[in-house]
Amino acid sequence: HKAALTIDPAFRIAPVDRRLFGSFVEHMGRCVYTGIYEPGHPAADADGFRTDVAALVRELGVTTVRYPGGNFVSGYRWEDGVGPKEHRPVRRDLAWHSTETNRFGLDEFVRWARGLDIEPMMAVNLGTRGVQEALDLHEYANHPGGTALSDRRAANGAPEPHAIAMWCLGNEMDGPWQTGHKTAREYGRLAAETARAMRMAEPGLELVACGSSGRSMPTFGAWEAEVLDECYDLVDFVSLHAYYEEHDGDLGSFLASATDMDRFIEEVVATADHVAAKRKSAKRIMLSFDEWNVWYLSRFQAEQAARPRQDWPVAPRIIEDRYSAADAVVVGDMLISLLRHADRVTAASQAQLVNVIAPIMTEPGGPAWRQTTFHPFARTAEAARGDVLRVEPVCPDYDTERHGTAPLVSATATRDPETGRVALFAVNRSTEEPVELEADVRALGGAHAARALTLAEDDVYAVNTAEHPDRVVPRENKSVRLEGGRLAAVLPPVSWTVVRLD
Ligand code: AHR
Repeated sequence: HKAALTIDPAFRIAPVDRRLFGSFVEHMGRCVYTGIYEPGHPAADADGFRTDVAALVRELGVTTVRYPGGNFVSGYRWEDGVGPKEHRPVRRDLAWHSTETNRFGLDEFVRWARGLDIEPMMAVNLGTRGVQEALDLHEYANHPGGTALSDRRAANGAPEPHAIAMWCLGNEMDGPWQTGHKTAREYGRLAAETARAMRMAEPGLELVACGSSGRSMPTFGAWEAEVLDECYDLVDFVSLHAYYEEHDGDLGSFLASATDMDRFIEEVVATADHVAAKRKSAKRIMLSFDEWNVWYLSRFQAEQAARPRQDWPVAPRIIEDRYSAADAVVVGDMLISLLRHADRVTAASQAQLVNVIAPIMTEPGGPAWRQTTFHPFARTAEAARGDVLRVEPVCPDYDTERHGTAPLVSATATRDPETGRVALFAVNRSTEEPVELEADVRALGGAHAARALTLAEDDVYAVNTAEHPDRVVPRENKSVRLEGGRLAAVLPPVSWTVVRLD
């Protein structure tokens, strides 16, 4: 197969918002406990933060982290997690049928995040709680001082405000599984009133209304329209969540997952702009794709159904998916989809960061290592700088069971106007054939050297483990050539590639 595209700095979509490389830490399974936080671990610092995990988080290039959930937030009392640890209550977590010890909370999270130059992104509980508790949390976190809650923060060791800019107004409120699940009208009203009150406290906050928890939700489309009807002028973002997995050995469909993500994004943009049109509003709502990943959700659901939970474990091993090379290719492709929509998707969080459907795995008391999916994320976060450029590959299509006809190759490019450096990201979705990719790069001028890294394995189901953490890594692609304004590279089947033109 062949694919052709053109890279031209004139075809600019939007700047790469660094918030696209966000992640997500939920009080779920072992994401917090024995993930980022494990006092007593040989690599733990004085705060109990695992420095081996922190080093991997830095290498991953994560820019923002959403916290503390997820489904967890919809039953969470933030004040349980602040103050002296010995006074913090132990609670049931209904979302994950776990016991929450509250040894880690808001102050620890912000300290951990700021220590890694990560922007904290906070979610408020609009499941079992409402306007007052959101205001209290905001006062504790962001008020400078001289009030009951801001002084409590100072007494708890954080005299400076946490200065959290971005706030999620609840989580997946459209989902019947959500504690305090609501109709679109109920949630839209509550989001509006919470946003109005929070803006009275701090007008410049950036607020995210819950969109649908998936494109296949029965209320998708109507939900966004009704919610935004209620809160359009009061919020900045609407959220999107999407998880993909390979069903019944249908690798071809799975590899086309990012086409579903493309449609999802474009439909949410259309819906938000429809609300703008009705309101005669010049304002545009941006998209926060604040949960996305590969997740073998059907496996998890089958396990849950087979084993009704009797107990309330602390930090159990839940959804610790081991990712394959094929999963990494799909993750790389989803990042391409996000970048291609950089004019409207200006924030995103891969779900989640450690252990729970995560690029980083740990063993309690043991090592931390990179899953296969770590690599496309880290390489994209590192190389995607400056502006996203529109590249439209001309290539064959293929038919899929789940996502209709899909292009065999997906691609996007970025160019840093300051350095002139360009990165091209490309995925070959073919399960059988390599693709000869050819790019017309004459518009970039001559002074470039090309090098390429490709993630591809003969065994597309190969995984990284604690014993073999580097079984699947991107390797140099020696086929890359740059000559006379023509860039050429061979993309193996089921592969993700980054070509850098420096
Ligand atoms: O990331 C795992 C879960 O997926 C989150 O808690 C929830 O928001 C979503 O359904």
